[in-house]
Amino acid sequence: MIPPKPPARADRVSLFTYMRLFRQDILSAQPARLYRAWMAEFRTPFFRSYMCNDPALIDLVLTGRPADFPKSDRVGEGLRPLLGRSVFVTNGEEWKRQRRIIDPAFEGGRMRDAFPAMVDAARAAVARMPSGSVEVEEAASHAAADVIFRTLFSIPIEDALATAVFREFRDHQRTQPILNLGAFLPLPRWFPRLHRRRTRSTAARIRALITELTARRAAEIAGGIAPDDLATKIMTTADPVTGERFATGEMVDQVAIFFLAGHETSASALAWGLYLLATHPQVQERVAAEASLLPQTPAFSDLSKLKFTRDVFREVLRLYPPVPMMVRQNTKPETFRGRAVAPGAQIVLSPWHLHRHERMWANPDGFDPDRWQTEAGRASARDAYMPFSAGPRVCTGAGFAMAEGVLLLALLVRDLRFGADRDRAPVPVAHLTVRARDGIWLRITRR
Ligand code: HEM
Repeated sequence: MIPPKPPARADRVSLFTYMRLFRQDILSAQPARLYRAWMAEFRTPFFRSYMCNDPALIDLVLTGRPADFPKSDRVGEGLRPLLGRSVFVTNGEEWKRQRRIIDPAFEGGRMRDAFPAMVDAARAAVARMPSGSVEVEEAASHAAADVIFRTLFSIPIEDALATAVFREFRDHQRTQPILNLGAFLPLPRWFPRLHRRRTRSTAARIRALITELTARRAAEIAGGIAPDDLATKIMTTADPVTGERFATGEMVDQVAIFFLAGHETSASALAWGLYLLATHPQVQERVAAEASLLPQTPAFSDLSKLKFTRDVFREVLRLYPPVPMMVRQNTKPETFRGRAVAPGAQIVLSPWHLHRHERMWANPDGFDPDRWQTEAGRASARDAYMPFSAGPRVCTGAGFAMAEGVLLLALLVRDLRFGADRDRAPVPVAHLTVRARDGIWLRITRR
């Protein structure tokens, strides 16, 4: 069974139709040829954009000369009410300094320390999961938010402040289109888009709550009673170059992005993962068998026993990359595949298309976790797999997310059986992450 893929649009459509499709869903707004092309140019009256699938171009933009391809200010603009000047939207020296302070908190050793909190969240997710017909995106969001709160602030999602943040984020997402990928395009100012009043006010409420959490933690650090978690680590780390630490306001920006980037994405991957397991029962049984070998409360070192589950999670991220597209802007004249690209163009990198590229993957749309143990599969991945981006701007939470995703899939499937409802196949659409248009409904029974 081929997992759901959005329908492609006709090759040629008017700009108006394109814009309309784009605002509905960026994935189905694209023509099928992008799954075969090395590069595609889009001309609109407002901007030019170049989607690059050629591995050499992707490497140039993300790894070779990333400073020449920053995130554009317009990209940041839509997210600013919520994210302020967080590491996700900044560039240049400001961004470098932020990464120097944040990165140590996500190193391997720290992940080992954060792991017990992830296990607690996973076990709580298993206990909370109802039986019967269940919408699992919502359940996955709940679980992923719990992971973030427990690892970052040592509080479970049931904590009053954590619950309030989680609720406000959900409200915020309903105030679309700020969390729509359309927000990433430099459309003219009259184009109906961002900063609706309601979006601004939910952003302000979220930031007020996060400020409370962060200020509380700053006081605990000052009093020498702070728990040893990711928030404490980040707030006590001095920049090795300047010696400065994050002020409370700056930390609020970073917490907002950890929460957004860390819980939306992981929730998307987990929900699609459960769907793929539900539709591939034999694969699900192999995951269950592997998970049954874990101790009741797994330790970080037990992750190495979950080899097949890890390949499953990799394959989930290939077919449904939670961040389907990334946008950069070129600052200098460039020549891409023989074509001149004037400064200021939008350079679009699309994990969605790359991961399903017909010239780079065998059986590109099929769910085949075993490909990850083949030489051909690994070779494809070297050229055409980047769920966490690449280069210096690679996702800070990549290691964290791999540990979390593999652990949650394993523990959920160890105790629960997921079945698909044939009449309710989910339709993938891109909001800020890849979601299902009407949710993902599965039948759940206890094993
Ligand atoms: C399956 C889960 C995840 C996926 C697929 C994912 C994917 C990505 C991608 C593709 C980017 C690059 C975006 C761009 O350059 O436009 C990114 C950036 C980022 N991610 Fe993740 N992410 C995941 C989980 C997490 C988690 C758990 C955290 C933190 C707790 C996190 C924190 C960040 C941050 C801070 C950035 C910005 C990095 C920078 O610009 O320097 N992510 N993520």
